[in-house]
Amino acid sequence: MNSLIVVGTGWGDEGKGKLTDYLSSKFDVCVRYQGGNNAGHTIKFNNKHFALNLIPSGIFNSTTMNILSNGMVIDLKVLIKELNSLISQGINCENLYISNRAHIIFPYHIALDEIFENLKGDKKVGTTKRGIGPCYVDKYMRIGIRFGDLLNKNSFYEKLSLNVDYANKLLSLFGNTTFDKDEIFNEYMSYINIIKTKIIDSSVFITNALNENKKVIFEGAQGIMLCLDHGTYPYVTSSSPSASSVALNCGIAPQYIQKVLGITKAYSTRVGEGTLPTEIFCEISKKIRKIGNEYGTTTGRKRRIGWLDTVILKHGKRISGITDLAITLLDVLTGFEKLKICIAYELDGKTIDFIPSSIEEFSRCKPIYIELDGWSEDITQIKSFNDLPDNAKKYIKTIENITKIKISIISVGPDRNQTIEI
Ligand code: GDP
Ligand code: IMO
Ligand code: MG
Repeated sequence: MNSLIVVGTGWGDEGKGKLTDYLSSKFDVCVRYQGGNNAGHTIKFNNKHFALNLIPSGIFNSTTMNILSNGMVIDLKVLIKELNSLISQGINCENLYISNRAHIIFPYHIALDEIFENLKGDKKVGTTKRGIGPCYVDKYMRIGIRFGDLLNKNSFYEKLSLNVDYANKLLSLFGNTTFDKDEIFNEYMSYINIIKTKIIDSSVFITNALNENKKVIFEGAQGIMLCLDHGTYPYVTSSSPSASSVALNCGIAPQYIQKVLGITKAYSTRVGEGTLPTEIFCEISKKIRKIGNEYGTTTGRKRRIGWLDTVILKHGKRISGITDLAITLLDVLTGFEKLKICIAYELDGKTIDFIPSSIEEFSRCKPIYIELDGWSEDITQIKSFNDLPDNAKKYIKTIENITKIKISIISVGPDRNQTIEI
């Protein structure tokens, strides 16, 4: 197995960072394949705690090459800050490279993100306000600025001028402060020396690595339910976290994709607006939020909590070809008398087991549950599936039986060591 995609099955924060870090020692290359610093990936080992927004979670393994792919939108200032922070904590970042085709988030993208959100009023998406959507809009408008552009001073200035003029027109329409192109130009030119040796053609790099039989792990950001095409549109992000986007987002042929590891929490969470069918509104959600520390890594917002939803897992299996599942935060469910799993939805009197494309229909879906007995034993130090309490084993096996996806990994705590491979 030379290639593995790590994809979130839900609305993000499933533990992709933890598992990518855990698996990285087995891989030569680790590639973040989409999104930007809307992501927050937490990694814990040896009593150290890291929160990454942009840099791939393979960075802690000194022999793994780490790549930010062409599918990403990258706020260069945030990247440099993250790089410096890792270096100051003793992490070697020599092995970090950036695609010359990755797009750059500029300050006007962040201002526009805020404006577009405010314009939507009570229909706002609840974005992270990191400029993600507006930067992808510029990409699709064919006026975006890519890392490769930074290497040509004159053409960078020309492209930036067009962009800033365009953004300023939009910003002044809404009475906002506008941006000075020369100021931005000079600021970004001052960053070039820090990163210019890191800018590569990542498509050539990754393809060569795969052809040399090297192992490549692709780390997704967000999750399938936030996918622009296959998520709960319009309450989604502006990229495609789905595993099928990896080929395009990394410049490799689809034939190279071999295994897809879907990451799901043992329950559901969501940050921002939009329907969460299995959302729990009673004390149970407060207890899960407290034990699971369910607050956004990037924005600190409270995550909304729901029961595990196998309709979503089956959707992920179809959309992303998930071959294996990792169930994370199983330890958080310790101490509940009963646990619910959603097996289908009732929509206008009919039972369905797929995600309707219309958000209005999705918001009318009522979950149909089965109920299982919980367990009370501490499972955070358990190292093998067989040692889990019977009811925890039953919970896992039930998910496997319903989804028909092999569960390969169980995570029983945030630390790298708190991981059970089956
Ligand atoms: P990502 O965006 O998918 O990488 O996930 P985040 O890092 O944003 O959120 C996952 C949170 O759960 C982080 O705080 C992790 O440290 C934590 N976490 C990951 N796996 C486990 C686990 O098995 N148990 C517990 N209690 N916490 C976990
Ligand atoms: P990781 O990689 C959870 C959500 C935002 C908002 C919507 C659109 O840590 O799992 P955006 O800023 O992308 O335009 O916001 O998507 N969102 C995430 N939620 N985890 C993430 O990333 C997210 N990235 C974006 O809260 O609802
Ligand atoms: Mg996260």
